[in-house]
Amino acid sequence: MSTLSLNVVILAAGQGKRMRSQLPKVLHPIAGQSLLARVIDTARALHPHRMCVVYGHGGDQVQAAFAQTDDLSWALQSPQLGTGHALLQAMPHVSGEGATAATSAVPPAPTCGNSLTLVLYGDVPLTKVSTLKRLLATSGPGRLALLTAHLHDPTGYGRIVRQSGKVQRIVEQKDADDAERAITEINTGILIAPTEALARWLPTLGNRNAQGEYYLTDIVALAVAEGLEVTTAHPDATWETDGVNSKLQLATLERIHQRTIADALMESGVMLADPARIDVRGQLHCGTDVAIDVNCVFEGSVTLADGVSIGPNCVLKNCSIGAGARLAPFCHIDSAEVGPESVVGPYARLRPGTVLGREVHIGNFVEVKNSQIADHSKANHLAYVGDATVGSRVNIGAGTITCNYDGANKFRTVIEDDVFIGSDTQLVAPVTVGRGATLGAGTTLTKDAPPDTLTLSRAKQLSVPGWKRPVKQKK
Ligand code: UD1
Ligand code: MG
Repeated sequence: MSTLSLNVVILAAGQGKRMRSQLPKVLHPIAGQSLLARVIDTARALHPHRMCVVYGHGGDQVQAAFAQTDDLSWALQSPQLGTGHALLQAMPHVSGEGATAATSAVPPAPTCGNSLTLVLYGDVPLTKVSTLKRLLATSGPGRLALLTAHLHDPTGYGRIVRQSGKVQRIVEQKDADDAERAITEINTGILIAPTEALARWLPTLGNRNAQGEYYLTDIVALAVAEGLEVTTAHPDATWETDGVNSKLQLATLERIHQRTIADALMESGVMLADPARIDVRGQLHCGTDVAIDVNCVFEGSVTLADGVSIGPNCVLKNCSIGAGARLAPFCHIDSAEVGPESVVGPYARLRPGTVLGREVHIGNFVEVKNSQIADHSKANHLAYVGDATVGSRVNIGAGTITCNYDGANKFRTVIEDDVFIGSDTQLVAPVTVGRGATLGAGTTLTKDAPPDTLTLSRAKQLSVPGWKRPVKQKK
């Protein structure tokens, strides 16, 4: 591999009309991350000296999506006159002449004599870093390195024309004759060229071809004419270089990507009820003997410790589930921690700031928000626990509600260890239930409940002797 510095240019000015969306194509997500963000992450893994995105359509939206990113520069291409014209717009950013960095955090470009430029497409999201490293290994100062692939059906792609095995040029589908169209080796579009050579070649490209565009692919013939060596490398799988032009193609790549993740999970010992019915939109870390039933969605960073079992149809986002814990079907967990051996659901919702201790039971239709519930406590049916600190061995009866909000401000409820809360109780915060206290069913607690005492607020029960039910009057 070369010790030269590497620039990356990501072509992303295409309109993406076939997405039929207000959202620019490259901002559409695969596994929860935009196409362009994926390409940028892949490029970053190569530690490039500079990265430049060529943008056009929806440029404001695209740049706004990367406003927090300080290692990118942006080159506008308007109008879009082809891939060669697109790369030309990026040259000031990578060639060291007239470079205008988007921010001061972008280092100055090296003089172009000792750098290489890798061209990626913003709508080709799944290229593996290992594939690009392989291409990089064939590149060098006197070389043009092309990533090519052999396809059963090469229709639509530029074809790699070889003579005696040596690459001579690339011909686009629309410009190709029958013999050229029969070639099955195609141009993926990804290439690495000496920056200095690009700076010379790109301004000389013409557009006298079937599409009236400035083709980047025409640099191959220029390289050959100058005596440069044209090398090729191939991706492991053809989907690595598949682009997204439509919602159908987006969904197809999403499924391929999800299947790759599912395969890796199973390879590491996770039991998936069906590898075709899991969606991981972030990082899922699993211990040993983890079992995941069908239709679960994992977002952000999720950790499942040893022996965790996740029932069908659960959604987990930025959370950690402790060893041996079990989620019954249809749980929604967001920014929460579930302690070891706990049992949650079915139909439970844990909202941000929830921390459950060991062997906590949260049952059906229970919502917990910004609350800590300590070891061995239970809220098994139909409850809202919000902004509460709950001790150990507490039993929260069905229908219990912490009234944490007065319409303007939020207040905390404190429930100490060994408390028993009867069904249908309202705890009007701020309020504290003392250790070992019992609240009678139906209580509306507005003042602190003393420890080890029964507290209840309830109208006295009354039975009316001789009372008769009304009867329908005859008309
Ligand atoms: C290009 C290649 C073709 C290759 C194919 C692989 C050329 C001339 N042809 O064809 O050999 O087989 O990709 O998919 O390079 N873009 C711009 N500005 C433009 C035009 C395109 O930024 O003016 C960007 C697009 O956003 C896209 C990429 O370049 O990310 C490729 O453009 P696309 O129109 O898909 O190229 P093809 O004609 O398919
Ligand atoms: Mg294309």
